[in-house]
Amino acid sequence: MRLGVLVLVLMALGGGVAAAEPRVVGGSRVSVEDYPWVVYLTDSKGNQFCGGTLVAPTKVVTAAHCAGGLAPKTARVVVGREDKRDTRRGVALPVADVWTHPEYVTADRGHDVAVLTLTRAAPGTPLELAGGDALYAAGTRATAFGWGRTSEQGAMSQFLMAVGLPVVSDESCEQSYALYKPELMVCAGVPEGGLDTCQGDSGGPLVAGGKLIGVTSWGEGCAREGKPGVYSRISAYRAELDRQIHDAV
Ligand code: ARG
Repeated sequence: MRLGVLVLVLMALGGGVAAAEPRVVGGSRVSVEDYPWVVYLTDSKGNQFCGGTLVAPTKVVTAAHCAGGLAPKTARVVVGREDKRDTRRGVALPVADVWTHPEYVTADRGHDVAVLTLTRAAPGTPLELAGGDALYAAGTRATAFGWGRTSEQGAMSQFLMAVGLPVVSDESCEQSYALYKPELMVCAGVPEGGLDTCQGDSGGPLVAGGKLIGVTSWGEGCAREGKPGVYSRISAYRAELDRQIHDAV
């Protein structure tokens, strides 16, 4: 009898641990064919270090803190490769030019946005940028994508992951972070934590209503209770990004 109870308790605990197994953090694998605009950046050794979003055939939006360390001669933008080890799939395109927001200093001060120009057109389908404020209403269902860590101290993901994250109100995010600036940033996550982007996901997309609403930027740890992820607010940079994407040569 006692043993039976113990077995049940152990089974319940085991199930709980399995269910909480971290994946982005708390997400699941998705196919890059369904999200052909999600890309990643590699360094001189070919290692993935950030994400990005294809927004025009030769233009990729990423974070300024990702573009900062990027060596244009050796960095690549990888398009159409869900499994980082499957080098037969997708293409790794060189970077011809890097535009970083001129007011960027550090991610938590805002303006964490950059545009990379590729040397030739990428095969993926570009994603549109968000315009007005509609998609930033608290509770809006958004999705973040990336190949970053699957837990705060965990390893980077080999596969593309996605996680559903509701948009957090500005009032609530101001409570979480003294540095939060509602004009330049947007927060996404759940109050109890467990779902989030993490290191290596930076620069990647936060998408709602079929539009790019944010760029993965910063947060305290990953998936912590009361500490949502902070994303650069695309609508705040829309005019400047349009110039960089469509007018710049
Ligand atoms: N700064 C991180 C990076 O470079 C992303 C951090 C996102 N953190 C978070 N808790 N959502 O990849």
